[in-house]
Amino acid sequence: MSSTGRKKRDGSRSKRRQHDYYPTPEWVIAPIVDHLIGVASDKLAREDIDRGAERFSELPMAVIDPFAGDGSILHCVAGWLGQPIGYDIDKKRVRQCQRKKIPCKRRDSFKSLGYLEEAQFLVTNPPYKDITGWIYGLLEARARMDVKPIVALLLPIPFFESKARQRLHLEHPSHAMILSERISFTGNGKTDSVGSAWFVWGDGLEGQWSIARAVKPVKPRKRKGESNAVPT
Ligand SMILES: C[S@@+](CC[C@H](N)C(=O)[O-])C[C@H]1O[C@@H](n2cnc3c(N)ncnc32)[C@H](O)[C@@H]1O
Repeated sequence: MSSTGRKKRDGSRSKRRQHDYYPTPEWVIAPIVDHLIGVASDKLAREDIDRGAERFSELPMAVIDPFAGDGSILHCVAGWLGQPIGYDIDKKRVRQCQRKKIPCKRRDSFKSLGYLEEAQFLVTNPPYKDITGWIYGLLEARARMDVKPIVALLLPIPFFESKARQRLHLEHPSHAMILSERISFTGNGKTDSVGSAWFVWGDGLEGQWSIARAVKPVKPRKRKGESNAVPT
């Protein structure tokens, strides 16, 4: 998601990228991966130690990103949370993902929710345009499942707002892990016009909010007359 494309004061809109491709920076992914590892280790302690599994990677757990892009999220979870699996509508993104050795297939993830059955975790930054219907469908399908995957979606904080989404939040309350700093999805340092949060379903903290422990890297500023040359 990125709030790019919202109406500006002068009435114009900035152009959105094709397929809403806005890769998630690593500093934004790190806190959700840490959080999910904590949730998974509780699960591991409770259910799996008895069965002799000592490491997450030995468990048959799959982490799905149905809007995988170049695999930014799956690359960060690989080796920590289980087997990463990606899908994307854009064949260029599928190839980028595969180059990172992440299994990824081309598919329109809005058309069917079949991937939910494969997942112990579904973690994504979805394309934001018209996303409410997909999220509602996903949460409804998840609610009908006997073993429910944990779902974590990166969304703008105003996703809480609007009459149209009231029912979604009342029926499927989430745990919102709020990022204290705004994200730049464009790589040019310009941040989004709104804040973001990881909306999580299935971690036992639904209906609560917390501040994500995210550390945005700071670019060292060059002072006047300073050079980057290494002194000899
Ligand atoms: C906001 S980007 C996020 C990429 C990646 N999840 C990340 O966090 O870096 C959204 C991605 O969704 C893909 N996408 C858009 N519509 C899609 C659809 N209907 N089915 C599958 N992928 C789609 C785009 O190609 C793009 O790579």
